[in-house]
Amino acid sequence: NRSSGKMGYALAEASRRRGARVLLVSGPTRIEPPAVSVLEPVRTAKEMAEAAARHAETATVVVMAAAVADFRPAIAHAGKIKKRQGVPTVKLEPTTDILAEISRRRRDGQIIVGFAAETDHLIENAAAKLRAKRLDLLVANDVSQSGAGFDVDTNIVTLLFPDGHKLALEKMAKLEVANRVLDEVVEMRRKSEVRSPKSGIESRK
Ligand code: CTP
Repeated sequence: NRSSGKMGYALAEASRRRGARVLLVSGPTRIEPPAVSVLEPVRTAKEMAEAAARHAETATVVVMAAAVADFRPAIAHAGKIKKRQGVPTVKLEPTTDILAEISRRRRDGQIIVGFAAETDHLIENAAAKLRAKRLDLLVANDVSQSGAGFDVDTNIVTLLFPDGHKLALEKMAKLEVANRVLDEVVEMRRKSEVRSPKSGIESRK
């Protein structure tokens, strides 16, 4: 897909600026990654699933903004597929839903934030994802709007919470969206009175 990685990198950069220890698992991008504590580059959905699950074991907060492929070819041919064999049928198989898997193994006090990319019925579909994946916060993104979603520097999102309340944000820079998401994370941690281990993500001064 056309995902650039800008939203994920903005989240990592905003967290770093607040003093968090940031472990960034990143698929291939054409932009410079922020200077995080640990950068783990991956290429495939499988590699991302393994790296993300490993780091989630110690993370206080998990934010999953990657546009992961939902399907992969079931068979990878080692050699060239010859034209004379006719038009091939590519059989697909599902990839792991990384976020759902991390949520299933959630530790006490761990905060899990997901994103939803939608083109239709934004709030309805996003709310269903929030419930199905049992998230603490879901950032819903109408990727069909201009100035939102893939490859642009701005985003237009609505934040959805498990108690049903929603917060529609105006169009703003992805770094600012990241900070608004982190403000909510800080607030959730304050409310749940989880003090140990400390996330290191602090409020903006
Ligand atoms: N996600 C994931 N692993 C996948 C697919 C998605 O971890 N294999 C995560 C995304 O990073 C995002 C959330 O799940 O935080 C929702 O992703 P999205 O693509 O909007 O939805 P899907 O769950 O894949 O459902 P659908 O494609 O049917 O809308």
